[in-house]
Amino acid sequence: MKILEIENLNLGFNCENGFKQALWDVSFVLNKGEMLALVGESGCGKTISAMSILQLLPKNAKITSGIITYENQNILELKTKDLRHIRGAKIALIPQDPMTSLNPLYTVGNQLLEVIKIHQNLKGEEAFKKAVEAFEMVQIPSPRERLKAYPHEFSGGMKQRAIIAMALACNAEILIADEPTTALDVTIQAQIMDLIGKIKIERQTAILLITHDLALVREHADRIAVMYAGRIVENAPANEFFEHTNHPYSIALLNSIPSTKGKFLETITGQPPSIQQTINGCKFHPRCKNCMEICTKKIPPNYIIGENHFSACFLNK
Ligand SMILES: Nc1ncnc2c1ncn2[C@@H]1O[C@H](COP(=O)(O)OP(=O)(O)OP(=O)(O)O)[C@@H](O)[C@H]1O
Ligand code: SF4
Ligand SMILES: [Mg+2]
Repeated sequence: MKILEIENLNLGFNCENGFKQALWDVSFVLNKGEMLALVGESGCGKTISAMSILQLLPKNAKITSGIITYENQNILELKTKDLRHIRGAKIALIPQDPMTSLNPLYTVGNQLLEVIKIHQNLKGEEAFKKAVEAFEMVQIPSPRERLKAYPHEFSGGMKQRAIIAMALACNAEILIADEPTTALDVTIQAQIMDLIGKIKIERQTAILLITHDLALVREHADRIAVMYAGRIVENAPANEFFEHTNHPYSIALLNSIPSTKGKFLETITGQPPSIQQTINGCKFHPRCKNCMEICTKKIPPNYIIGENHFSACFLNK
């Protein structure tokens, strides 16, 4: 069941040297109980796509067109008051830099209780019980004691669990997790991903998971959207994506994962462009092994190449 839909989102920034477009016709759907992984290299527009949903964008950002439908309304047209009701309560966020989202001056329990009081309207013993349950859900051992601890007494992985517990305490329908495991070591990464996967299944939460690491989402994602230079260049159900990867950029991303290529880690040559650079035609063409003449002149449309699978590459012409 569809919960949220972004259609043709265009966004840019007012920079010193003029307006620069950063998102081009970004569209995707979030379904109940499913995880969409938004994947791409640094700077491609993953965070600003997600933050457009909550309208937590930098001051110089401007959405020039697009629709974001949630509960039969375009949330881009909502008043700040109504948006506040959605943020946290309906759509929870694990931000890209979660380590700064805990206040060092208060115990983790106090911060979690605050969220529970606001979002679940509970007080005293009842709120405390919910806090213990939230810590149990994210598998923090000895939850009653740990609630009394301060953030600096938590390891990186435990802090991230506490932040997930806070997001869960809101009973949100949608969870946006922006690189939720980047700061953590590999074993903890897998545990946090398993936890998010469990939340998806047990609570039927729709999850937008942002990452630059395709290997990380392989097990848990239901759908993969690959972004390059502000555009979604391929979007497919996860199985289909891994079996029939189409876009040369997606293939290059997959080939740069060590496990799929044994010891040989292939890197993608060159750098993705910044929003200051103008590239005609397909924005991936300067780095693409398959580049043809047309690629330097025309922007490839989205070619439908399978059920619910599109790829913006002229090789499908
Ligand atoms: N306030 C701003 N003013 C101008 N450009 C910006 C601003 N914020 C972001 N950008 C640019 O917008 C583009 C998209 O940024 P975004 O943060 O969404 O990237 P990302 O895919 O999340 O990258 P990362 O993986 O590094 O987090 C980048 O090229 C970035 O430099
Ligand atoms: S459109 Fe051309 S340049 Fe772009 S990814 Fe496809 S083959 Fe490469
Ligand atoms: Mg980001």
